[in-house]
Amino acid sequence: MVKELPVVMIREIGYSYPNGTEALKNINLNIFKGELVGIMGKNGAGKTSLIRTLNGLIRPTYGTIYIDNENISSKSIATLSKKVGIIFQNPFHQLFANSVEEEIKFSLKSFNLGKEEIQSKTDRILREFNLEKYRNRSPLNLSGGESKKLAMASIICRDPEILVFDEPTLGQDAKEIDFFINLITSERKKGKTIIIITHNVEFAYEYLPRTILMADGQIIVDGPTKKVLNNEFLIKQTSLILPQIRQFNLVLQQNEFYEVEDVLTTNEMIDYLRNLIKHKSSNI
Ligand SMILES: Nc1ncnc2c1ncn2[C@@H]1O[C@H](COP(=O)(O)OP(=O)(O)O)[C@@H](O)[C@H]1O
Ligand SMILES: [Mg+2]
Repeated sequence: MVKELPVVMIREIGYSYPNGTEALKNINLNIFKGELVGIMGKNGAGKTSLIRTLNGLIRPTYGTIYIDNENISSKSIATLSKKVGIIFQNPFHQLFANSVEEEIKFSLKSFNLGKEEIQSKTDRILREFNLEKYRNRSPLNLSGGESKKLAMASIICRDPEILVFDEPTLGQDAKEIDFFINLITSERKKGKTIIIITHNVEFAYEYLPRTILMADGQIIVDGPTKKVLNNEFLIKQTSLILPQIRQFNLVLQQNEFYEVEDVLTTNEMIDYLRNLIKHKSSNI
């Protein structure tokens, strides 16, 4: 069997902003089709700069990026944006139309679709994102959560093969986070590759199989999230906090429940506690 090549291959890239800030240094990264990957790290670590290289918004000062096995250095932002859809942290950096409906239609403009197809795609995406009732409203008059949803809808309607979200859960309420989780679950079922920048440790711990930690423009670790986020040394280095289940686990160990060391998830903790109670009651 031929081994599948990564959909994103980053080979030894670096980037300095025109003012001299070295935002990315010696970055190497492979991401395979269908993966769901988190990028975490302190503010200023280079997370946003890294994802901006994927659709040509910034071009590496050195090194090469391949998407679908093609060097992207000579490809335009317009071409790359059809493959890599980036949903930025601040929706107002990407929303500019006069109405919610126009925002989606504008986003579909570069695809050479007929008027009717644009309308039916627009109607469908507004329905999927519960934005139909705001169809004629200015994006400026949406709530924070709604504008974030519109920014997502305006990218997802273009059906890019790689989806990148910059801090999607920031400032979102529980219902909005649930919506987002359902969204990424359904996009993943369609085979999409998803990259999520987040500071939300509990979200990453539960939903993202792989996590990349960045610091000072570099990748300092890249591995299974349950390993990465349980590593106290790395967590301190990147100003994150340990997942709650790990904190609970450590308190139990301090209280001489040493055998709890390998318990990593809520479900495993429930099983562990259930066994403990069973064992205790059978000893009475
Ligand atoms: N447009 C810019 N011009 C100059 N420096 C920038 C610009 N954007 C970001 N930086 C700097 O690049 C570094 C990485 O920033 P960024 O990629 O935004 O980090 P993160 O997303 O992890 O918070 C920081 O030192 C930041 O101050
Ligand atoms: Mg950022």
